[in-house]
Amino acid sequence: MKIYEKILDIAKRRGIFYPSCEIYGGISGFYDYGPTGTRIKKNVEDIIRKAYLIEEYGNFTCSEIECPTLGLDDVWNASGHVKSFSDFTVECSACKEPFRADHLVEENLKISCDGMSAEQLTGLIKNNNLKCKKCGGELNDVYNYNLMFRTEIAPGKNKRIGYMRPETAQSTYIAFKRLWEISRKKLPFGILQLGKSYRNEISPRQYIIRLREFTQAEMEFFIDPDDKYEYLNLKDDAAIKIMDRDDKISKISIREAHSQGIIKNKAIAYFLQKSVNLFVRMGIDGKRLQLRQHKDTERAFYSKDTWDVEFMSALGRIEIVGVADRGNYDLTQHQNCSRESMEIFWNNRRFVPNVIEVAYGIDRPVYCVVESCYAEEISGKGEGGESDESKEIDESKERAYFKFPPEISPYVCVFPLMAKDGLPEKAGEVVDVLRKANLYVFYDKSGSIGRRYARADEIGVSYAITIDYDTLKDNTVTIRFRDTKEQRRVRIEELEKVVK
Ligand code: ATP
Ligand code: GLY
Repeated sequence: MKIYEKILDIAKRRGIFYPSCEIYGGISGFYDYGPTGTRIKKNVEDIIRKAYLIEEYGNFTCSEIECPTLGLDDVWNASGHVKSFSDFTVECSACKEPFRADHLVEENLKISCDGMSAEQLTGLIKNNNLKCKKCGGELNDVYNYNLMFRTEIAPGKNKRIGYMRPETAQSTYIAFKRLWEISRKKLPFGILQLGKSYRNEISPRQYIIRLREFTQAEMEFFIDPDDKYEYLNLKDDAAIKIMDRDDKISKISIREAHSQGIIKNKAIAYFLQKSVNLFVRMGIDGKRLQLRQHKDTERAFYSKDTWDVEFMSALGRIEIVGVADRGNYDLTQHQNCSRESMEIFWNNRRFVPNVIEVAYGIDRPVYCVVESCYAEEISGKGEGGESDESKEIDESKERAYFKFPPEISPYVCVFPLMAKDGLPEKAGEVVDVLRKANLYVFYDKSGSIGRRYARADEIGVSYAITIDYDTLKDNTVTIRFRDTKEQRRVRIEELEKVVK
């Protein structure tokens, strides 16, 4: 079994993520998060949330907002998405299977299709006699397929056309004037929005990597175009692989890349560095992260400069965050189309602010965390040694688990050693202590302790707390550490402090 197949297998069995709508045959591009996966995803979201709303304190103010996911066509016409948010598509004339046309040409001819038109792609397909990957049939002409889900809002004369948002950003931009007032009319300020976005991807694939409904966390950083970012400090960080728009590769720190002019904009360098650190904090393998600048032909229509952080996964290269200098494109577009001024008065000048955008997906980092933290160990025998050790574990003679950092770990587990002699009641007291401390607790009293530890490991729980006969005598419990299997005795009164 390949590593990503094993991960999907465990993810499904242990309630991390699994295809949606399975009883009706499923629908590509939609995944559910199970009870454990939902906790992991929320933890990933919270790391990003805290990193901007709390940890930027002293550098700039950042607040969180939440807007509707369905927006009027006016918004998406102004932003340019109705016209330009599309992918080249080609269909088979026989079986009607659709393909991303540029990907199909790139795979077959081993060339880059950056900047090509639909006509050029059709020409390449016809001249090179490229056929349907599924049935070998003739391919039709390439066309542009808009990736937004279109819908109607309200019946009759009130009917309006709406689109499910393909990014959270626009709903932040259209509220800019109000946000400016609320932010006490001072630049810079950041607005973070976490929520669902929708893209009618032509070929959704790779589990939660390319979804049709996914979660984003986008931070729009509103700035004076003359800002020199003196308040942002680049740290001395480790060297990372950096690819610029001309395919020049450097292995240097982000700070060095900025001083050498490779990453020109200091705010972009700062948010790339911050993102790399956040991903490592989540448990993503830092050695597999790299930075890539968008080429001029690939860059989105609104952007002056864009950099991605990518993760080299078992499934291939995955973009997990994009940092873009959007200039004042979006605010100016909304000003022109809505006829509401987006100008502000700041530093004795009247102008439309610029925006640096940090666009995280959440689902892709969740996958990267899960893949990076997956570990296998051949143990030879189970832990605990009781006779009812799980068959699954006995037979495989291995420990397959997730080394999630405690900040990502879905729960703290609480286990009474035996389901008798007052141990479950005492365990209930420990559960209360932890819940009052705002920790998510998973309580389990069934099966041998070895089997329960194995179950906790399989979903990446960092700490399991066991209540045994000594607990009844001296009010101490055992904390068992997942990675080392070390066990430490702790007084119940100290438990909250130790776990936190
Ligand atoms: P790709 O080139 O892989 O399609 P993108 O360039 O379209 O990605 P962006 O438009 O920059 O991605 O979106 C910002 C972030 O949103 C991405 O870094 C990614 O984490 C997330 N994202 C975008 N599209 C999807 C999707 N279909 N499924 C899951 N996450 C997505
Ligand atoms: N807001 C950037 C993106 O989602 O593409």
